[in-house]
Amino acid sequence: MSKPDLKTLISELEGKLKKELSSVGNLKDLEELKIKALGKKSELYSILRNIGELPPEERKHAGESVNKLKTILEEEISKVESELKKKAGAEKLSAEAVDITMPGDYIRKGSLHPVAQIMEEIVEIFKPLGYSVVHGPEIEHEFFNFDALNIPGDHPARDMQDTFYLGKDTVLRTHTSPVQARTMMQTKPPVRVLSPGKVYRSDYDVTHTPMFHQIEGLYVDEGIKFSHLKGTLLYFAKRMFGQDTSIRLRPSYFSFTEPSAEVDVTCVACKGKGCRICKGTGWLEILGCGMVNPNVFKQVGYPETMTGFAFGMGLERIAMLKYKINDLRLFFENDVRFLRQFK
Ligand code: DAH
Repeated sequence: MSKPDLKTLISELEGKLKKELSSVGNLKDLEELKIKALGKKSELYSILRNIGELPPEERKHAGESVNKLKTILEEEISKVESELKKKAGAEKLSAEAVDITMPGDYIRKGSLHPVAQIMEEIVEIFKPLGYSVVHGPEIEHEFFNFDALNIPGDHPARDMQDTFYLGKDTVLRTHTSPVQARTMMQTKPPVRVLSPGKVYRSDYDVTHTPMFHQIEGLYVDEGIKFSHLKGTLLYFAKRMFGQDTSIRLRPSYFSFTEPSAEVDVTCVACKGKGCRICKGTGWLEILGCGMVNPNVFKQVGYPETMTGFAFGMGLERIAMLKYKINDLRLFFENDVRFLRQFK
């Protein structure tokens, strides 16, 4: 069999490559075919290389026909390439399509911790009465936590079982009352302040945690009477728990107030009829209060003719009553399912 002539070779090659080109389905395969058809190792290239062996009169014509095929192939390939690119672009667009009629993602807003909310609420209730907010340190000198408040050195409250001692005479404050003493030492009367914050006691069960929050109130001026205290607390109780709330004062003892009282509000659950929550009494205890003890005025350098009242309450306790929560520890576990309910 004689060697096929160049014309046949070229036309066979053209047919073969065109057929392969017609079945290419993506840009990657096309790239491979391009190398196979036109690259250094292609059949076309080897035909071109062998032209030199032809008799001189045939060379020109042979060169022209190889180049013609090369041009044809390049054109065909670029045609297919632009079609495939168009197709790939359309596929990408439809895959990334966004349905703008779909509802957007719901972004959940955070909210204040229920104890922080109660704190803000109390401050808002007292604001119209002229109270401003002051803060004191959580690491407190024994003097402010106890002595200045007329709590003598042998008082059981100082016992290590209740108080976290940090040093010989520094403690984690066991109440917010030391801020009373600090405020009076820094400001001349009249004084009308609220002081919220963290307090610490070595205690842990369903109704006690080693850290909790209190808010302290102090009103000092000339001519302040017990009736002012009672009126203030009734106003507070009604704003906090509803207008149908009454208060009841029971005699009590705190060394920094004299006389002292514990204050109850109408049970939030039964409205005073008597139920399990108020243990059948119709009342719930919410705070301690009293007229500032003259010994405290002496400690802070106020004249003994000065008068005033003070009160202090636990914020978690108020929150528990208001939101009917039965386990104090829930406030500190930070389960978002619990916290989310207080928007
Ligand atoms: N400091 C007291 C406590 O932690 C609460 C208290 C009672 C504060 C009577 C007062 C007050 O200001 O007058 O239990």
